[in-house]
Amino acid sequence: MVERTAVRSYRESRIRYNGFGDFAMDLSVDLAPKNKRGLRLANPVMTASGTFGNGLEMASLFDIQRLGAIVSKGTTLHPRRGNQQRRIVETAAGMLNSIGLQNIGVEALIRDVVPIWATWRMPVIVNVAGHSVEDYARLAERLDETPGVSGLEMNISCPNVENGLEFGAIRTPRLQ
Ligand SMILES: Cc1cc2nc3c(=O)[nH]c(=O)nc-3n(C[C@H](O)[C@H](O)[C@H](O)COP(=O)(O)O)c2cc1C
Repeated sequence: MVERTAVRSYRESRIRYNGFGDFAMDLSVDLAPKNKRGLRLANPVMTASGTFGNGLEMASLFDIQRLGAIVSKGTTLHPRRGNQQRRIVETAAGMLNSIGLQNIGVEALIRDVVPIWATWRMPVIVNVAGHSVEDYARLAERLDETPGVSGLEMNISCPNVENGLEFGAIRTPRLQ
């Protein structure tokens, strides 16, 4: 009885023998279990939008494919130059930033960056930012079914741009 219990719990556990003398923990998570395609990550470590660019520069510094997923820089319909310098200051508690959603715009992203993502093993989630429900809908339309894009993250409040809090701070129309 004790043996059978032990066998069952090994099968049900997320620990697997890799055949080379080591046991490995399965850290995978599915971020979209109700979606027909799901969104499985090998592990739950993701980059926060804007802190990792679009992943291209970081790819030369370490094996970024070991991450669970990358979240892109906030992307808008049209390119944005962002706020004037100086946009980052160090404080006693850490740092403050006011980048202002600098980004290359969705068309350049699809043309120049997404094809590179499509060759990567781990999923890339695109952070999208807009001023209206229509902006978000158009961004979603452009990125939907695009190989290399595994999901969308909506940026609904960016305090560093004009009216940047409108979605996060006031009652908004229901997104259907
Ligand atoms: C330099 C910098 C740029 C950022 N750019 C974006 C952005 O483009 N889109 C976005 O949604 N969040 C952006 N963020 C916010 C981060 O994604 C994250 O929410 C923030 O750093 C707080 O993370 P924490 O709650 O884990 O501390 C940016 C943050 C930093 C430091």
